[in-house]
Amino acid sequence: MKINSNYLNLKDNYLFKTVKKKVNDFILKNPGKKIINLGIGDVTLPICKCAVDAANNATIGMGRAETFKGYGPDGGYEFLREKIAEKYYSRSVKIKTDEIFVSDGAKSDISGILDIFSLENVCLVPDPVYPVYSDSNIMDGRQIVYLNANEENEFLPLPEDRYAADIIYICSPNNPTGSVYTAEMLKKWVNFANSNDSIILFDAAYEAFISEKKLPHSIFEIEGSKTCAIEINSFSKSAGFTGMRCAYMIIPHELVREGVSINKLWGKRISVKFNGVSYVIQRAAESVLTNEGNLQCKNLLTYYRENARITSSTLRNSKVRFFGGENSPYIWMKCPENIKSWDFFDYLLENFGVVGVPGSGFGKNGEGYFRFTTFGKREDINEAARIIGGVFS
Ligand code: MLT
Repeated sequence: MKINSNYLNLKDNYLFKTVKKKVNDFILKNPGKKIINLGIGDVTLPICKCAVDAANNATIGMGRAETFKGYGPDGGYEFLREKIAEKYYSRSVKIKTDEIFVSDGAKSDISGILDIFSLENVCLVPDPVYPVYSDSNIMDGRQIVYLNANEENEFLPLPEDRYAADIIYICSPNNPTGSVYTAEMLKKWVNFANSNDSIILFDAAYEAFISEKKLPHSIFEIEGSKTCAIEINSFSKSAGFTGMRCAYMIIPHELVREGVSINKLWGKRISVKFNGVSYVIQRAAESVLTNEGNLQCKNLLTYYRENARITSSTLRNSKVRFFGGENSPYIWMKCPENIKSWDFFDYLLENFGVVGVPGSGFGKNGEGYFRFTTFGKREDINEAARIIGGVFS
């Protein structure tokens, strides 16, 4: 019997677990010390009323013979897929309901989709990057080529011939850097993928935070993308569903490799490995895509955007170099005086109880940077902004 020894090539702990462990150790040593946690991008506001009502009603329905549901369709109920297709249609993107696969989270999709691709594929992962992209490929033993994202390219690298790869990861608005690709830039990636026979895995989990009108929310707003892209999106950040769990992946029928429909291949994969998201959660997700749900979720987004504005303006006033915060819930700032990311993490935690995520945890190009989420409570954001402003003054 042999283990999958590729797992031994992973770091000892997943980044956010390492952060959590350090914070827990600190709390044990400093009982009673206030912690301001702006580390993992977890929401802090409760889900909106329409989602609560929809989940409650669906739960009551499960207790009645006439409305009880057993196993659902593994790709998601039609009522939710229709609402998702309408959401895309409102941005002039036509998606068929059977191109949508409902899941329990973007993380599961981003890693799970690799099941249907050969281990011989080479994948292109930006550096810095959300660790799931690289770690799930390391687990499979797939070759990774890292794409440099840095201040020179404003953390928005563009394709170059030397980066030819089979699977290309793009996250926009980007986690961790908060940078957002324009339509013109995404078009370059789409052309590159089509001419290299690659597939783009487009992570749109943060698109709800885009406020600039011209910026694309979906790769499918870009001409030619349906023959080369898969999109992943989630209710976690747009509707506060990190604890509810609901996401979706869009695989267009036009996406074909080696004469095989990628949509059909994924359909096979989920029918073997997945029994679908709970009916109750799908009803809650449906409700946030109604007009009323949209309005209620906008209130959540407005709150987090104001958090981002407060943090950004403090950093600006303190002349700190940073990215993101405008169309993104993440702020990616340069550490002061060339301090290393983990040293800055320790400094903020030990002196002020403020927690962020060290940039180097996202890759070598993240060294010297630090990420804050703006999903915190307002009083924590105000306090953290005051402290960080003070560090730099
Ligand atoms: C993050 O902090 O990068 C994300 O919240 C983690 C996640 O979504 O899994």
